[in-house]
Amino acid sequence: MKGVILAGGLGTRLYPLTKITNKHLLPIYSKPMIFYPIETLINAGIKDIMIVTGGSYAGDFLRLMGNGKEFGLKHINYTYQEGEGGIADALSLAEYFADGEPICVVLGDNIIEKNISKAVRDFENQKEGAKILLKEVPDPERFGVAEIEDGKLIGIVEKPSQPKSNLAVIGIYMYDGHVFNIVKTLKPSDRGELEITDVNNAYVQKGIMTWEMLQGWWTDAGTFESLLRANILVSQTGANNI
Ligand code: DAU
Repeated sequence: MKGVILAGGLGTRLYPLTKITNKHLLPIYSKPMIFYPIETLINAGIKDIMIVTGGSYAGDFLRLMGNGKEFGLKHINYTYQEGEGGIADALSLAEYFADGEPICVVLGDNIIEKNISKAVRDFENQKEGAKILLKEVPDPERFGVAEIEDGKLIGIVEKPSQPKSNLAVIGIYMYDGHVFNIVKTLKPSDRGELEITDVNNAYVQKGIMTWEMLQGWWTDAGTFESLLRANILVSQTGANNI
């Protein structure tokens, strides 16, 4: 399986921290944010990785990570998202890299305590479709929220004002090679973005979306509060523990 890290977007919620750099280059405790999703993939045995970035500071990713020697990689692939067309728009840029193979997509600001090895192995044994990971949170209205009935995933609602559960869809997604055809059918949402939740709901409707609960803590780091929380959590337990 190949890995795709989405690190585009303008990080406007963190302004002025993101005035002169990309959000994913900001520090989380002892490392730049982008190091964590790279380690998440490598820990799960995924070493063929593409980073989608964007904005004015994309060149700094090359200066920071080069060909990935520090991570034990021989090579990292990079591509560039123009504008901020949404998570699914950023994903569409990885079509050529994926070349029909299954992919594991990680949002560049998502950090986890443990690892996703089991979920990745499970997805490798799944013939088709997609897999998402869920985590109970106190503030589901900030995320994509899963509705589950009798253990069955009914659908996902993006940032609902009245969430039907406390199960956030975390920013780690596994897709078969058809994902890019689904992205091509999407229309921009009210916030003008191609939404990853619409991609996921397309798989739910086809009945080929599976889900697992994530073990250990999970956080994003795209707001001042979550950036602070990410720093505290990583300082206490470390991240990507095997
Ligand atoms: O963190 C998990 C949540 O991430 C999910 O629960 C939501 O369903 C999903 O929509 C997303 O929500 P956010 O609104 O918090 O996503 P955000 O706009 O912060 O983008 C997350 C990452 O995706 C960001 O760090 C970089 C990447 N991205 C985002 C956009 C909008 C891109 O690469 N390009 C983009 O245009």
